[in-house]
Amino acid sequence: MRFFKHLFENKLVANKMSRYANKNLKHSLLCRNLPFALLVPLILTACSGDNAISNAPDPSPPLNFRQETGETIGGLVAFYDFERSFADVTGKVATAQPIGINTSDTSTGSVYIDEFDGIHSLSAAAEFSGISGLRLPNIIYSPSYTVSLWVKPETEDVGAIFYAQSSQGSLLLDGRGLTVTGNTGQGADNNLPITYTSKDYVLTEGEYSHIAFSVSYGAVNLYLNGAPIYAPGDYNGLDVFGGADTEDTSDDWLVDDDSFGDLFSGQDTTVALGVSADTGADAGELKPFRGKIDNLRVYDESVYYVNLILLANEVLNEGPAATITPLLSGADIELSWELERIEATSISLSRQSFEEPEQVLDLTGDMPLAGSDTRYTDSAVPAGRNYRYTLSAVTEMQQVFSPLSDYIRVPGREAYSAISAALNEQSENIELSVYLENIDLASYDILRNTEALVASAEEIATELTELSYIDAVDDDSPHAPGTPYFYWARVTDEDGVVTTSLALPAARATAAGEFVPPNILTLEENQDGFCSVDGAVENNNAGFTGEGFANTDNAPGTSIRWKIAVETPGEYSLRFRFANGGSGDRPGDLTLNGEPIAMVSLPETGAWTNYENSVRLTLNLEAIEYDIQLTGNGDSGLSNIDHLELAPNDSGAQSPSGIACQ
Ligand code: GCU
Ligand code: CA
Repeated sequence: MRFFKHLFENKLVANKMSRYANKNLKHSLLCRNLPFALLVPLILTACSGDNAISNAPDPSPPLNFRQETGETIGGLVAFYDFERSFADVTGKVATAQPIGINTSDTSTGSVYIDEFDGIHSLSAAAEFSGISGLRLPNIIYSPSYTVSLWVKPETEDVGAIFYAQSSQGSLLLDGRGLTVTGNTGQGADNNLPITYTSKDYVLTEGEYSHIAFSVSYGAVNLYLNGAPIYAPGDYNGLDVFGGADTEDTSDDWLVDDDSFGDLFSGQDTTVALGVSADTGADAGELKPFRGKIDNLRVYDESVYYVNLILLANEVLNEGPAATITPLLSGADIELSWELERIEATSISLSRQSFEEPEQVLDLTGDMPLAGSDTRYTDSAVPAGRNYRYTLSAVTEMQQVFSPLSDYIRVPGREAYSAISAALNEQSENIELSVYLENIDLASYDILRNTEALVASAEEIATELTELSYIDAVDDDSPHAPGTPYFYWARVTDEDGVVTTSLALPAARATAAGEFVPPNILTLEENQDGFCSVDGAVENNNAGFTGEGFANTDNAPGTSIRWKIAVETPGEYSLRFRFANGGSGDRPGDLTLNGEPIAMVSLPETGAWTNYENSVRLTLNLEAIEYDIQLTGNGDSGLSNIDHLELAPNDSGAQSPSGIACQ
């Protein structure tokens, strides 16, 4: 029921197609992925040799092996699907907690949920902003384990993805591969670090990749998008010891076994996503992850490769989808639905009326339908209302919601009018049609507004009698491009009784053209609201907006200051447009009226002429004046700041304004 409420409140359930092209999975495997054979030295020896893999057949699974579905692979310890929460879906372990720039920084940190950018249609993902991570409970505690996740980096320098650290050593998955330190069992002192990787380990910016690794008593299998990257014995031809250099082998340690020691059994292990013990903002330091991570699964055994490929395919298969369709049949509404790629154990249905949106009715209540059901009759539905439906299919591992259905109307006995609006893309006119129930029409008027408020709507036509009308664009009455318009029909019957239609979703059409949000405050230099810079306003690096950019002196503690007035209290998004052609992040400490708010990462943008406004923060502001200050916290001051952008998250809110500084 609570789930449904959330769904009805948010208009976020647009159907989203998977953007993933069919990844070409390599199935030719030689001497790889044999987790049960790893411990047998003979096979290891047989497998060493060069890295080339050719037309070798797939290894056949061991006799007792069962190919599972993605949901039921054995040994699952935790599953974080980031569907609007950081909780473990299996309910076995604790919810992930946001932490700061590294695993010791547990006092700050914010990680977001992107409701639209999960790996599946209809799914959400965890969004990391490059300054924070998630602390996970101790979910790696045995000599064998598997980690599977989806990652979409936003920067070329990927940073820390997954991390586990005990007193015995650490394991770090990042843009280079899987690096193990501490008790590695390598080198004279058994402590040379190893990076398990290959040249095929390439994570693409702005794209989801599936990464999985399994460890069986120190023997590593690493996969990218279902293709093997590293398997025990792959060290020939690779420089897996002593660093990332491939040419210089002088520091390599010749070994006949590339497995590492048991780091985590019986240990108090720190596990994190997006940060490690060593992540930081300074040049040369490993960066916290920036981008999205989705569907993190951890197993306490080495998952067989066939199942890892299955997990890597969960997007290719497009993930679960559900649609529900209502159909009017007398006084009943017949519901039918389709589930795709869902093994539902049960189905729940929910109804909401436009007239009483607060009252979401859980139709199935404590008695959900069987997972195999496909129809349901919502009988004797109160007449004279508009209804829409959603369904929730529960599987062993997750809960999948259908998008909200369109509204369906059950005609009543009272006078009722409705209007529908649609943009004619050719003429760019908005075409309206009026629907009446129990009304002997005398005439009607059409009202229009850019918000769903009839009280302030404008009368655009009066005394109409035809049930269709065209709201034409012309020079005298242009439509604001990309702007949604709401329409009402104010109908008068033959007795002079007036009935006004509702602002149903169908009564809304968006004018042609691109919408420019009017309530974003962009503060350029040399305008009210820009106060000062410890440095200069310059214009030598092209690509800026306004008259230039603010360049702080390259010294610690140099600041830029702004002053704004907020009219509507609430949530705002703050962005800095900046360029950083130097090497390394140039983070700044943000204060509002002297109060520290956050550290803002201003990472490299590749060139001083390459401006980005990718850094975003959510602020809760009151209706007061604010002094905004950004102070560089490294030796080089800040990146060059082109402008500051502040937008209310609620589109109804008034734009904040820049005001003169004292
Ligand atoms: C270059 C660049 C400046 C920048 C400076 C810096 O000189 O042109 O705009 O501020 O580097 O490193 O801060
Ligand atoms: Ca500078």
